[in-house]
Amino acid sequence: SFLPSFLLSFLLLHKDTLTAKVGQTILLPCTYVVKSEPVHMCWGRQCNLLSCGQVVLRTDGQKVTYKKEKRYQLEGDQRRGNVSLTIENVAEADSGEYCCRIEFPGPLNDQKTSMNLVVKSDEHGDCSHEIG
Ligand SMILES: *[C@@H]1O[C@H](CO)[C@@H](O)[C@H](O)[C@H]1NC(C)=O
Repeated sequence: SFLPSFLLSFLLLHKDTLTAKVGQTILLPCTYVVKSEPVHMCWGRQCNLLSCGQVVLRTDGQKVTYKKEKRYQLEGDQRRGNVSLTIENVAEADSGEYCCRIEFPGPLNDQKTSMNLVVKSDEHGDCSHEIG
């Protein structure tokens, strides 16, 4: 890794963590201040510095233009800058990092919010079964 481990753990620890149980619906919050023109945005997993990585949902600022699965929804008013992501019927495989990237025009203007989702099994102490 190119990052020293202490720095990496600092970055990971200071990301918001959201917890859900298998089967629940969870809201990953993301909002931005709306300016004049509609702004494209995306939600992704395995996000990197420049992109949403593995994109799960995209909008053109007014409507959703791509979603990886039907379970991903935007229920907020995106014209007012509420692009919070709803994930229905979460599974343990949904655990991990998510990022919300608002693609403001111009270089390095993107607003990026990252968070960790932890989905826990309802069963106690049984981590032995495989997912996927
Ligand atoms: C954004 O929309 C969601 C879903 O309707 C809602 O629960 C949430 O409170 C809204 N957030 C803000 C900041 O308005």
